[in-house]
Amino acid sequence: MSDRAHETYDVVGIGFGPSNLSLAIALEEHRAKSPENEISSLFLERQSSFGWHRNMLLPSATMQISFLKDLVTFRNPTSSFSFIAYLHASGRLPQFVNNQDFFPTRQEFHQYLEWAQSRVADRIAYNSEVTSVRLPPGGVAEASDRLRLEVADATGRTSRVVEARNVVISTGLVPNMPEGAERDDRVWHSSEFLAKYRRTDPGELRRVAVVGAGQSAAEITRFLYDELPHAEVSAIIPSYGYSVADDTPFANQIFDPGAVDDYYFGTEQTREAFWRYHRNTNYSVVDDDVIRDLYRRSYDEEVRSVRRLQFLNLTRVTGVKRVGEETRVSLQVGPDAEVRELDFDVLVCATGYNTMQPTGLLGELDRHCLRDEAGRYRVERDYRIVTAPEMPCGIYVQGGTEHTHGLTSSLLSNIAVRSGEIADSLVARCAGRNAEHAVLAEVGGDIR
Ligand code: FDA
Ligand code: NAP
Repeated sequence: MSDRAHETYDVVGIGFGPSNLSLAIALEEHRAKSPENEISSLFLERQSSFGWHRNMLLPSATMQISFLKDLVTFRNPTSSFSFIAYLHASGRLPQFVNNQDFFPTRQEFHQYLEWAQSRVADRIAYNSEVTSVRLPPGGVAEASDRLRLEVADATGRTSRVVEARNVVISTGLVPNMPEGAERDDRVWHSSEFLAKYRRTDPGELRRVAVVGAGQSAAEITRFLYDELPHAEVSAIIPSYGYSVADDTPFANQIFDPGAVDDYYFGTEQTREAFWRYHRNTNYSVVDDDVIRDLYRRSYDEEVRSVRRLQFLNLTRVTGVKRVGEETRVSLQVGPDAEVRELDFDVLVCATGYNTMQPTGLLGELDRHCLRDEAGRYRVERDYRIVTAPEMPCGIYVQGGTEHTHGLTSSLLSNIAVRSGEIADSLVARCAGRNAEHAVLAEVGGDIR
């Protein structure tokens, strides 16, 4: 199906994390079922090999979803790409079951993802950063049904141009830093934590601080406390103390596939209720076991009359500057919002992420994408951005749809079903296009 001379594909996936991996598998399973209707695909990923938040693969970090919310099971429980199939292939299925735990470590889940991607490797190009998505010269006036993607290699040079009838953008969350804080070799965002930690001599780290009261902050605080027995570790938390991530069964229903329809077709009031009542399932919250681990360490210090682990509660970072060798952090501290400055050897900002934002990639094309009154993309139920009628290509997004599809948009919970829905939509679009071309061919029309 793919025309290799011009490198044209029915669909090109931009970014190859779990979301587009799940889509690649959905397309592969479609091909196996109906080889005559194969959808040609290519997935472009800027990393040199598969990696899922590698810099947060801390040794004891566990998944925040059940292993059954893997790449496929909710869409196709008999898939050979399931986590259970992976365990079976690895010879660990009985041991995993004996362990009686729904939540594998992130390291084990990472191995599963690597195993899955190796089975669709012929459709992935690593070291391939998409730098722009454009209409071909002539634009929509040309009535071309393709988009043109420029791809840079590891050196940053444009190494390849590919054409796509549809794109699926899944470039992931964007790290958020506190205002007035720039990243450098002493000020890190949690998304770069392990890489920067490994480049630092642990012996030099005597005063470290971690900003934030979310899962990343709590995991990093625990890690640093355990890894650096000589260091003072300060947790700068904006709340009074860490709050627990609600994963009790009724609340967890907001991650069910059906909740997407309730959110998408619900009223503005419904959508607001999702966020008001259930934001604490995911944002600025921490798993119960990690909270208890940290409290136990803190209490143990009280018993031993040592104070290496400090909690600066009700505290926000308002600025960071370099003073000689010191990283000087400006803080608003405590109930009176007292302004203070503290020096640290390293400041880790576990200050969360902003939602995926494809505008930069789309450039000129963005003009053809329609927005709502609040300036956000309008998105169809099948995750396709609503475009002006003259735009013949599909621009799908996996991520960045919290305002239309709800809380699962940036999470793994629903990726099996979501990527199945996108695959179905792509199949229908390609079938429509092929039927149109068959008619045109019969009447001797132009086929591009
Ligand atoms: P993801 O960010 O994983 O992948 C995007 C990919 O696009 C990256 O590989 C990136 O390199 C690539 N890319 C970006 N721009 C590109 C470009 N221009 N060209 C080519 N490639 C480009 N959720 C959950 O439900 N359960 C969980 O347990 C966790 N755990 C978790 C841990 C940590 C540490 C974080 C930070 C987040 C989670 N999450 C989570 C939420 C998280 O968003 C989710 O797990 C997935 O990473 C979403 O997968 P995506 O493929 O959408 O994005
Ligand atoms: P997060 O939940 O958004 O938390 C960010 C934290 O930083 C919040 O407490 C926020 O407080 C705080 N913050 C922001 N600016 C600040 C400032 N200037 N001063 C002080 N505090 C500030 O981000 P996250 O912890 O990185 O989690 C993101 C996603 O990754 C979640 O889905 C999470 O579940 C997931 N995750 C999963 C795992 C795992 O699977 N084991 C590990 C890590 C993360 P405010 O809310 O008050 O702004």
